[in-house]
Amino acid sequence: MASKNKRMRMNWQVPASKMSHQTFNPIRNIVDTMKLTPHPDKEMIALSIGDPTVFNNLPIPEHINQCIVNKVQGQKHNGYNPSIGYEDSREAVAKYSCTPGRPLTAKDVILTGGCSMALDLCICVLANPGQTILVPRPGFSIYKTLAESHGILVKTYNLQPEKNWEIDLDHLESLIDDTTATILINNPSNPCGSVFSRNHLLSILELAKRHKIPIIADEIYEHFVFSGNQYHSLGSLSDDVPILSCSGLTKRFLVPGWRLGWVVIHDRHDAFHEVRSGLLRLSQRLLGPNSIVQAALPEILSGTPQHFFEETLHYVEENAKNFFQRISRIPGLRPVEPQGAMYMMIGIDIDHFPGIKDDVDFTERLVKEQSVFCLPAKCFQFPNFFRIVLTIPKVKVSTACDRIEEFCQQHYKATLTNGTGSHSS
Ligand SMILES: Cc1ncc(COP(=O)(O)O)c(C=O)c1O
Repeated sequence: MASKNKRMRMNWQVPASKMSHQTFNPIRNIVDTMKLTPHPDKEMIALSIGDPTVFNNLPIPEHINQCIVNKVQGQKHNGYNPSIGYEDSREAVAKYSCTPGRPLTAKDVILTGGCSMALDLCICVLANPGQTILVPRPGFSIYKTLAESHGILVKTYNLQPEKNWEIDLDHLESLIDDTTATILINNPSNPCGSVFSRNHLLSILELAKRHKIPIIADEIYEHFVFSGNQYHSLGSLSDDVPILSCSGLTKRFLVPGWRLGWVVIHDRHDAFHEVRSGLLRLSQRLLGPNSIVQAALPEILSGTPQHFFEETLHYVEENAKNFFQRISRIPGLRPVEPQGAMYMMIGIDIDHFPGIKDDVDFTERLVKEQSVFCLPAKCFQFPNFFRIVLTIPKVKVSTACDRIEEFCQQHYKATLTNGTGSHSS
């Protein structure tokens, strides 16, 4: 017989936990409900997938492959590794991430399963359920997914397309209150393809310093910047504000499936004394990345030839230029020229496309009529824009542009129905 305190289940309806109900990826919710039926006579061109390996057009150098093969064959790394990662691998990340005058050592690094896990550790170590984190809009959706699954609240601060997606600092500051646990900065940006200037980063640091708020820097696209732009890590510029920087091999080394990321602790004034041990405890939940990739990390970071990075960047930058030149000539579209990362955002003058409701409708119809799939920026909480990925094979760029142009020619109306060329409602 069941004791008094035990509840007997009467059937096999097993409830899912509160955490699982709170976990929600807005991109999936939008994309999975979109009607994506391509034109039957046109081969699909996906400009939507942020995985640079899908088209097989950007191979990794033999050196990187060989580092993994050597570790597999050496048979020395089949066991458990320390939860924060092997010491020499962490030391290698410290060396890779430090900048003049700002030394880092292995104790400032935690290896993680991709940048996503790094972000999860950082959000969890800085915020309690009920506290708030401030994230960019438009921004990568995982911040919200991770935070809300733990009961942490999210507020979005505005990025400004007309200012190369710089942060509206007044808006950011207006969101800060007693519940603010951290500000998350993503530079270079997905989905914007923007790269913040040194001055802008210094202004962000100044604001964080005034309010004594630590920063999580999502720097997974570090060094991925086009000519004429310079990348500065927040850690390299910060004298006072403590920063947890998240990055990894995913984008620059073109191996997203290897799930090798890291947190770099840029402490200032010993502000992160407690956070360091918090991160250590949190790392013990899931034990970090695969031991073989970890073990190969020092050689990958030190031995990957510079020309590989340059060639990849050149490839993506050329695609960016070609897309931008073509799309900026299409009436009804307003591309924002990217400065780095792998994406470009394109504004839609939606009022000039009668019968098309919004960016989701626009992108669905682009698939139906032209078999070109772009991600509606509603996925990044920024309606009436869409995002394209710049890593696609070169030969597909002009076909994609031809089709986007034809689509717009068919739907764009220069004069609105009220004849004013301005909003009719
Ligand atoms: C801005 C940003 N942060 C984090 C991630 C996650 O990286 P990872 O695949 O290493 O978890 C991505 C992946 O696309 C990203 O675009």
